[in-house]
Amino acid sequence: MDSAISPRHAQIDIDMIASSQPDIFLSARVSVRYREKSVLSDIQLDIHRGEVLGLIGQSGSGKSTLAMAILGLLDRKQARADGSIQCDGCDLLKLREKDFRSWRGRKLALVLQSPLSSLNPALKIRTQLKEAWRAHASGPAAECERAIRSALESVSLPSTDEFLRKYPSQMSVGQAQRVLIAMAVLHRPALLIADEATSALDVITQSEILSLFRQLNRTTGMAILYISHDLASVAGICDRIAILHEGRIVELGTAAQVLANPQHEYTQRLMRALPKVPQQGFGKEQQRAAAATTR
Ligand SMILES: Nc1ncnc2c1ncn2[C@@H]1O[C@H](COP(=O)(O)OP(=O)(O)OP(=O)(O)O)[C@@H](O)[C@H]1O
Ligand SMILES: [Mg+2]
Repeated sequence: MDSAISPRHAQIDIDMIASSQPDIFLSARVSVRYREKSVLSDIQLDIHRGEVLGLIGQSGSGKSTLAMAILGLLDRKQARADGSIQCDGCDLLKLREKDFRSWRGRKLALVLQSPLSSLNPALKIRTQLKEAWRAHASGPAAECERAIRSALESVSLPSTDEFLRKYPSQMSVGQAQRVLIAMAVLHRPALLIADEATSALDVITQSEILSLFRQLNRTTGMAILYISHDLASVAGICDRIAILHEGRIVELGTAAQVLANPQHEYTQRLMRALPKVPQQGFGKEQQRAAAATTR
């Protein structure tokens, strides 16, 4: 009788299993080649609703190619993507460009590395935010103004007329990056892809912007695919980390698992390459601290 399970216990077990299943927003099973060159080989990556997933790999490993494949921005003449990218009941690889336009900026958003070159230097911030809002909404001017001010507040920028009258050149790089993030979150996307979004910033601004991404993830519930070559700086905001090496996902796990117990030889090399502070190196205490940063 010891092993007998009452129906009530069986139900609890089933409920526990069901609640531990992640809610998958996007499921990529994809290979990409540029002409004869294979860049992504049978990538299998799921992005869960509401998570921050770090995609870490060295330059040329294919990180941006995966982002572009998800966003339908691969050069259709040069690149060939095989497989599928399932998202909200659609295979993104099969979407036509005209249908993709209603996804980008609304369900899926992108923030890139160089904020000042991503903004139009000739247009005031208000104009650029208005254009981003009008790309997917058609309400009255007052509604647009409310959405703009609320997006600016969500990234801790002033929502004043004085700020909205500024041109990009009148802002710091950190402020410009916040404006781009405000633009990206205007329509409350379900997934934000940040491709090296903090690489051009000094370390203090970088850490502030990373905290902002984590805060937006918590307050809005949007998932973030955070792309970086720098495991140490982004690990603290990630729920899970995928390591991309030469076009393959070689390791995937919770941030704590990957940092504390890297399995793949490339991840182990990445860990060994981390700055050694203090002299004992990146020991268990530091790994715990890194994993806990800003969480
Ligand atoms: N349009 C293209 N045509 C041909 N090859 C390309 C094209 N875009 C990227 N590649 C090649 O694909 C490989 C992966 O590039 P990708 O930009 O995805 O790497 P990455 O991991 O984002 O690198 P980085 O960290 O430098 O941004 C590189 O070898 C690159 O030269
Ligand atoms: Mg890149």
